[in-house]
Amino acid sequence: MALTLDKDWWRQAVIYQIYPRSFKDSNGDGIGDIKGVTSKISYLQSLHIDAIWLSPFYPSALADGGYDVDDYRDVDPKLGTLAEFDEMLEKLHEVGIHVFVDIVPNHSSNRHRWFQEAINSEPGSAARNRYIFRDGKGADGELPPTNWISHFAPSAWSHESTQGGKHGQWYCHLFAPEQPDFNWDNEEVGEDFLTTLKFWADRGVDGFRIDVAHMLKKDLSNPLKDVPEPVTLDSNIAGNEILFDRDEVHEVYKKWRELFNRYNPPRVAVAEAWGKPESIHRYASPEELGQAFNFDLLLADFQADNYREIVSRNFAAATQYGSSSTWVFSNHDQVRPATRYALPLGSDLIAFKNSNGASSSYDLIRGTNAAIAAQMFALALPGCTYIYQGEELGLPEVLDIAEDQIQDPQYLRNHKIDKGRDGCRVPLPWTTSGTSFGFGSGGAHLPQPDNFGQYSVEAESGVTGSPLEIFRRAIALRKELMCAEELTWHETNNPELLHLSRPNGWHCVTNFGRTNVALPKNLTFIHSSQPLAGGELPGASTVWLQA
Ligand code: GLC
Ligand code: CA
Repeated sequence: MALTLDKDWWRQAVIYQIYPRSFKDSNGDGIGDIKGVTSKISYLQSLHIDAIWLSPFYPSALADGGYDVDDYRDVDPKLGTLAEFDEMLEKLHEVGIHVFVDIVPNHSSNRHRWFQEAINSEPGSAARNRYIFRDGKGADGELPPTNWISHFAPSAWSHESTQGGKHGQWYCHLFAPEQPDFNWDNEEVGEDFLTTLKFWADRGVDGFRIDVAHMLKKDLSNPLKDVPEPVTLDSNIAGNEILFDRDEVHEVYKKWRELFNRYNPPRVAVAEAWGKPESIHRYASPEELGQAFNFDLLLADFQADNYREIVSRNFAAATQYGSSSTWVFSNHDQVRPATRYALPLGSDLIAFKNSNGASSSYDLIRGTNAAIAAQMFALALPGCTYIYQGEELGLPEVLDIAEDQIQDPQYLRNHKIDKGRDGCRVPLPWTTSGTSFGFGSGGAHLPQPDNFGQYSVEAESGVTGSPLEIFRRAIALRKELMCAEELTWHETNNPELLHLSRPNGWHCVTNFGRTNVALPKNLTFIHSSQPLAGGELPGASTVWLQA
């Protein structure tokens, strides 16, 4: 199947996220790599997906799992070479699969050539002006310049001496100290990212996932302003426009759009931006990136009224801006959905993670059923669906990673408050047994639990009713059923049931409850996330029907 030239191919696509270090290891060093992806193309094809998105594979010291980039225009030697990337891209394109790469524009790594130049240059120099360097407060500048906090540390400021600098200034990092924020008021920074986007687009990359797209522009007027107390990184809080979601950031993406439109088909992008649907969709307008992740379903409990409200609100916001909606339940930053939905509604996820998964009311069967039902619900919606590697296997979060094996700076640097994100980044199981369950011949860089083989591709392939086979069939059917980006809700008289349909008579019914319910009359069965029970839809399941 050749690659489509349809310029709107992405509007209702299924995009599969690969976290390269944990997907497939081709050379036995315990780290997934580019050749590993290439070796699994027939698997990707068997999922009937339209595209993959690769999390960063650029040279990196892995202070933040690769989101600390040393060089935006190269492949990490631990993961492969540019030639291997080109080969992977060509082979994916041959089978009709598009490729998104991850662009991390808010910050580089501290090993990036520009940051090294900055640290070794004078205050006020052009080299320092690519980042955010400031004098400290206090009699001797011993205090950070503002009260800004970081996602991975108490302060968003580190003293330059921690990086070998000798001029007594502080530099800003809204993530780890190894991730200095760029100064997006400096045109050179914007030019360099255009060069990077062009570099990958010229190689044939079809799209880009934009890391923390709402954070690039900050209010850098002198003196810098404190954010209102209590200090939070929540972009919805009034006053936090000093750091997030500023109007000027949209000028950046309008320029990117001009570049994307020079290609045929035009390149596309999806913003990772956090905030209200009404502001998030602005990033997704046709004048800007085209899509933005909608994380509302990911953050919601598995409840009918929640889901309906979220879908309606996001669909309206997307329509207003002319973008397509996106639906997301999972990614490399979030507790896997099978595990989230296994907990009682309203549970404290962080406390659950920190307890290594100790909870008497943890029901993984219900959680797994709900996760698959939720995805089948989303796959029936207008718009684009993202699936994170392992989600198609019903993989749960790995909850018992020992403290000395944790890699995530969210845990290591953030007062150890939250056990972090490693539990969803454990290398994939491909086989039921063997070294690292088929991930590679040399073990796995994060420990896999003993029972991981039961979730493997080998264990689930060809098994009727396995998560993998339910997903495969759902995605294949969805292609045949695809129609205009419209939906109609049908009243059900049951608060635990949602029923919607698409213009071509494709109906989707999801049962969020725990008891079986009768199906709507006069519709033909197409597919369901669990077998029907005496013609009825079991709790935590979704059925597709045809008028
Ligand atoms: C995004 C990424 C996350 C990373 C952060 C900083 O939220 O998804 O993994 O830690 O940005 O780049
Ligand atoms: Ca490897």
